[in-house]
Amino acid sequence: MEPFAMHVFVCTGGGTCPHQGSVAVHAFLKEAVARARLKSRVRVSQAGCLDQCGHGPLVVIYPDDVWYSHVSLEEAQAIFSEHILTGRPVDALRFRVGEPGAHKLARDQNGRPTQRCTLCRDGRAVTAACEGE
Ligand code: FES
Repeated sequence: MEPFAMHVFVCTGGGTCPHQGSVAVHAFLKEAVARARLKSRVRVSQAGCLDQCGHGPLVVIYPDDVWYSHVSLEEAQAIFSEHILTGRPVDALRFRVGEPGAHKLARDQNGRPTQRCTLCRDGRAVTAACEGE
């Protein structure tokens, strides 16, 4: 068996991205790849925290090293149709905070998030349930 031509990681294991819808994004991409009969060439994997908490759902595609943040299901469709099927990254959906790095939400001296996670689907404040690792 040849190595995968493309590896898609979706953060579903951290404390924030799942709250922002990453589980559904992962399921969608995995199913889309299976439906397109690309499973032998494209692997869609769940990832633990990618250290970008608060900017999820996070999707990273290798070997292209393209990071997508705040990926909705509609945007996951675009990523599938354009990037995964044709190999052309969707520039409009690339990581929207700047270069990937330590972009976790700010925390106080007790480690509690100090800002609202305005990207949560229900718009609620960050809670212990959606804290990153
Ligand atoms: S929870 Fe997804 S990057 Fe940390």
